[in-house]
Amino acid sequence: MDAIQIYGGNRLKGQVRIQGSKNAVLPILAATLLINGTCKLENCPDISDVHHMLRLMESLCCVIEKKGHCLFINAKEVSGCDMPPDSVCVMRSSIMLLGALLARTGCVRMQYPGGCVIGRRPIDLHLSGLRKMGVRIEEREDGFFAETGNRKLCGIHHRFPFVSVGATENLVLAAALADGVTVLENAAKEPEITALCDFLVRAGADIEGIGTGRLVIRGVERLHEVTYRVPADRIVAGTYVAAALSCGGEICLTEAPCRQMDAVLCAASCMGAEICEEEDRLWIACRGKRRMLPVLRTDIYPGFPTDLQSAFLTAMSLAGEDSVTGVIEETIFEDRFRIVPELRKMGAKITCRDCRVFVTGVRYLEGTVLKAEELRGGAALVLAGAAAKGETIVYGRHYIERGYEDICQDLSALGVRCRKTD
Ligand code: EPZ
Repeated sequence: MDAIQIYGGNRLKGQVRIQGSKNAVLPILAATLLINGTCKLENCPDISDVHHMLRLMESLCCVIEKKGHCLFINAKEVSGCDMPPDSVCVMRSSIMLLGALLARTGCVRMQYPGGCVIGRRPIDLHLSGLRKMGVRIEEREDGFFAETGNRKLCGIHHRFPFVSVGATENLVLAAALADGVTVLENAAKEPEITALCDFLVRAGADIEGIGTGRLVIRGVERLHEVTYRVPADRIVAGTYVAAALSCGGEICLTEAPCRQMDAVLCAASCMGAEICEEEDRLWIACRGKRRMLPVLRTDIYPGFPTDLQSAFLTAMSLAGEDSVTGVIEETIFEDRFRIVPELRKMGAKITCRDCRVFVTGVRYLEGTVLKAEELRGGAALVLAGAAAKGETIVYGRHYIERGYEDICQDLSALGVRCRKTD
């Protein structure tokens, strides 16, 4: 089975360039379906979630050319209502295509994108917003059929009951070519939404309130071809900040989106990291014992990102003096503490209660055999192996490759002894 082998215990030293953002590029790929022409995307991360999305788009008659980290997407002939079922199951983010496809082709038939181990991940907010825009959605046992009756989608005034990144993205995509004005209130403000809106505005969309929780999108007749550079991945950068906190040492991250990482860098500095930011270069030095974070609570942006909760749980497992305990509260997903049993196998002292874990720092973790079950938890287990004594094998590398181009190569550049193994 695919795995990563790590010989832990080294303090980190080195530099790594941060890849393009998975959670920015996926909705932007969906946005290219709105454009009757060819778009060029630069700095695309070479990760399996992107590979899946490209296969899905090719099944919808997009013509895609890849040159290094550049993608050329020709969506002139987008057609077809049917999303291949196997891709939808593997690729939750296929739901990102819904709004754009409806705006372009007027109909979509797809299976419900399954949940995953971190939570049920329903799509009710996506569907209710689209229904308000005039989409007829017939729900069946395992999927749904959505159609616009060959009419343009209608602009709406919509307030999300709670913040959803994906539902915000879907409605922005549906609204860009809609008839009239769409006002989205209580919209997500994640940097990935800002990147999507930036891309659309460059293609000729009319969007106000970018970066805020209130977006006003005036539908336009058409969008034009555009070249866009995918921004750096703040979660990958935060993962390597957590690596320095877990292993100690001094590292430099280049092309890091520092300005999107305030909550992460604040948490790292509270744990004793010395941080220096200069444009898109980020230096982190962790000397001496890390301090325990009394409380870490995940939240919507600009709060602490849920996607870095697991990596910081690993770092906190090794922080603090003599039985100081920290609490992590997960407020976004219902089941995102699944790495706890794996960290316990290494000697971590963690107890769970509902949406909280209580972690007491230990002096060291013991290397052992671990199993990843999902993307961010898998990355956190690799960090634990890098900090632990002895050898650690993390099975389920394919989960990690969904979002990290080559975590082994990156961590090796920072001084970790690790390699892919089968
Ligand atoms: C996006 O997922 C990201 N994925 C996630 O990153 C990230 O953790 C999440 O936003 C929160 O920031 C991508 O961008 C591809 P949500 P998304 O809709 O859009 C509930 C990673 O590791 N909800 O903001 O699915 C939902 O169950 C991934 O890169 C509904 O109830 O997240 C969750 O509890 C993991 N109904 C909460 O809202 C809906 O219709 C937030 O979900 C939609 C969501």
